Amino acid sequence: MKLTIIGSGYVGLTTGACFAEVGHQVLCVDNDEAKVKSLQAGEIPIFEPGLESLVRKNVAARRLQFTTSTEEGVDHGEVLFIAVPTPPQADGSVDLSFIEKVAREIAQYLSSYRVIVDKSTVPVKTGERVASTIRRHAKPGAEFDVVSNPEFLREGCAVADLMRPDRIVIGGNSDRALALMQKIYEPFVAPVLVTDINSAELIKHAANSFLALKISYINALAEICEVSGADVLKVAEGIGADKRIGRGFLNAGLGYGGSCFPKDVSAFIAIAEQLGLPFDLLKEVQKINIRQVDRFLDAIREALWVLKDKKIAVWGLSFKPNTDDVRSSVAVNLVERLVAEGALVSAYDPQAMPKAAELPMASKIRFASSALDAAADAEVLIIATEWPEFASADLASLRSTMRTPLIFDGRNLLDPVAVRDFGFQYRGIGRGI
Ligand code: UGA
Repeated sequence: MKLTIIGSGYVGLTTGACFAEVGHQVLCVDNDEAKVKSLQAGEIPIFEPGLESLVRKNVAARRLQFTTSTEEGVDHGEVLFIAVPTPPQADGSVDLSFIEKVAREIAQYLSSYRVIVDKSTVPVKTGERVASTIRRHAKPGAEFDVVSNPEFLREGCAVADLMRPDRIVIGGNSDRALALMQKIYEPFVAPVLVTDINSAELIKHAANSFLALKISYINALAEICEVSGADVLKVAEGIGADKRIGRGFLNAGLGYGGSCFPKDVSAFIAIAEQLGLPFDLLKEVQKINIRQVDRFLDAIREALWVLKDKKIAVWGLSFKPNTDDVRSSVAVNLVERLVAEGALVSAYDPQAMPKAAELPMASKIRFASSALDAAADAEVLIIATEWPEFASADLASLRSTMRTPLIFDGRNLLDPVAVRDFGFQYRGIGRGI
């Protein structure tokens, strides 16, 4: 089928590449000319395992093409996916101006039947707004349907998540549009859930908020474990073995970050409030998440007394492993706060240093050439992101390069017993053992 994706960010680009991989003719539209040029050459602006080779292969096969022209995009695809950013506003609600602008642009070029699909994460009832906007700006009698098709991919395993999703959610009110959507997803082996548009939109915010809730729940338990002498890893294993609970997203740590959970939890609270329904449960989820970094910093201050002029090594800057994304990264937030207290931070990340170098805090820290280099002469090592290479660090060399053997493991990556055997003092999250 001929498909158009408007917006070639994380979701748009990965979706476009995977649709092309299963045989669709995909045209991706983006208004950033430089980005479109490099994508045409098969170069991608993000680190995402497997994505670059997929893009190159499908560009070479001419199943995946890029343009800056929305007009060309509307002309090309019988189905047009909107995958533009929906950033947060100061009050936590979602800025829908990019979606609105794309809806107007589509309307302007609409000449025959098109399905317009909201792929971006949007508040419930956005589909209705998109439809009325297009109707207002299109020629009288223009034929189209609006569909909601939220995306559930995780950064770091985006290609696998798209090719083999747990489920595909399609929300629509027209049989013609739903039939086309089902045809697009035929090559993907996954259960398809068909709903109305509002339910599909709600599913996305509800799913992300529930996952955030699981993380805050285990982080609240972690605090209880620390005080009561229990091990949160064992508690997570014990409760997660119950199929009704599940072990996923029960890893205690510094809390959730990234471009989705913090934004989506705030958005869902704002959406509920606009509907006249305060969502206090989610407000508590946010509070617990913020408290994780506060508690961690308190413990570091407790150990070092004064942070000013202390050499502190930080392993990990990305918001999670296998990505170079530093947006709303808890690791970056932690570094910023250490720097604000006058600490001398040496940081290392296997992928995220180029993106971190563009942040305001970059001039105030040292970017190390390796994990061990970051730890040289440090009084404390903080593990902020659980990259696999940190788990297999040479503990003997680490011990001899650090000034004082103190590890604060914000992601429970290391084995406390093994680390203590090497003479380190170790503190994880929720490990009261
Ligand atoms: C999340 C969802 O998992 C995807 O399903 C969704 O499509 C995506 O948001 C989105 O809305 O676009 P992502 O933000 O890429 O995906 O990453 P996650 O793997 O969900 O991790 C989010 C944060 O939670 C990370 O900071 C991670 O360190 C943290 N986390 C995750 C924990 O602290 N504990 C856990 O047990 C799991």
